Amino acid sequence: MVANDPRRLPPAAQLAVEQFSMVFGMDEGQSDAQAALGVAWAPGRVNLIGEHTDYNEGFVLPLAVDRVVAFAGRMRSDGHVRLWSRQFQELAEIELEGLPATFGAQAARLPAWARYVLAVLGELKAADLALQGFNAVLHGDVPLGGGMSSSAALEVATAWAASLFSDGRFAIGKGAAASTTLAPLEVARLCQRAEHLASGVRCGILDQAASCLGRPGHALLLDCRSLDFRYLPFESDEVALLVADTHVRRELAASAYNERRQQCEEAVRLLAAQLQAEAEAGERAVKPQITALRDVTPELFTRYACRLPEVLRRRAGYVVAENARVLEVAHLLERGEVEAVGPYLWRTHAGLRDEYEVSCLELDVLVEIARRVEGVLGARMMGGGFGGCTINLVRNTAIEQLTEAILSEYPRQTGRQASVEVCRAAGGPGALYLPA
Ligand code: GLA
Repeated sequence: MVANDPRRLPPAAQLAVEQFSMVFGMDEGQSDAQAALGVAWAPGRVNLIGEHTDYNEGFVLPLAVDRVVAFAGRMRSDGHVRLWSRQFQELAEIELEGLPATFGAQAARLPAWARYVLAVLGELKAADLALQGFNAVLHGDVPLGGGMSSSAALEVATAWAASLFSDGRFAIGKGAAASTTLAPLEVARLCQRAEHLASGVRCGILDQAASCLGRPGHALLLDCRSLDFRYLPFESDEVALLVADTHVRRELAASAYNERRQQCEEAVRLLAAQLQAEAEAGERAVKPQITALRDVTPELFTRYACRLPEVLRRRAGYVVAENARVLEVAHLLERGEVEAVGPYLWRTHAGLRDEYEVSCLELDVLVEIARRVEGVLGARMMGGGFGGCTINLVRNTAIEQLTEAILSEYPRQTGRQASVEVCRAAGGPGALYLPA
């Protein structure tokens, strides 16, 4: 993970580097002011398909994107972590000593962004990894709270930074020469736990895994139960991914997310009890094991859906259909048929809007605007919902027209401004020391 080619730096990392000496130049805690500056970063993600399937132990198909959260910093000789956020123009200080036990007390006095860093450092310490203090400037170009997983990018970048500044005591990834080595997916799990702690959202592993495992030009098919994964080519000269941000951030998103997760768990409990009762009554020779909605096939669901209360039937029905869609889209990508993916996105949006009920007016407006532009192959809301952004699969020839339609019609229909970005499938995290 440690290389020394500054040309590899993403733009946000470059900006963090440029600000470091201005913020920390004179700081005495640094082990050696002449020591090399270290940079670590991790990407945000888009999710092509497989929404709200991760915590149901199903399948997801995300791509890491060419937007990152980055740390530029220098190791300290003590256990302090001093951070300057370029985006929030705010300093935060963390004490490694005492973590993870002091998480609550430290979190209470930190700004929200720094709690994610604190939670990751706490989880690394809970995993018995040796950490060293550091000073760092943080910067990112993943839109904040915009559905491209800025928090996962921050968590994963924190893990890579902590490894870089651990003085070689722990490393991430294959072939790393350190006494302790974490696999990227172990980092993803650890960062998922950190997200639960820092935000209170019982998220699945989608965002953190996508960030840890990004590969340029590829999407990632991840089985969220076994954590087996496969890369599928996602490259086309004809089409692009365009992300449109509603600029809506809703407070209720966290509680509604946890409620959906709990509803899925309840549906599983009811379906499993039903099958158990049938097996005991001798109506079934073999009892299918259902421990998550992942185990419910479309056929099984058709047969038993009527036994579920109406709301749970709609929630579970969406998840069962979405898992099937992910696998079909994976087959299309395997055959290089990127354009054929479009119709699946419309269907996922309808399911998220009508059955899972996590969309909102602004997301629906963006999807309907996209539907009317020729050359848009598919669009849907992306991520947890209740705001954030849509993902659009668009012919290159229609990018301009879609952008114009969104920028003019969205404000007219919602009274808000939208922003639009074209994203590319990019690589995963990186960490390196710059030549002194
Ligand atoms: C958020 C969560 C993910 C996932 C998506 C919905 O992004 O962090 O774990 O559940 O919502 O697919």
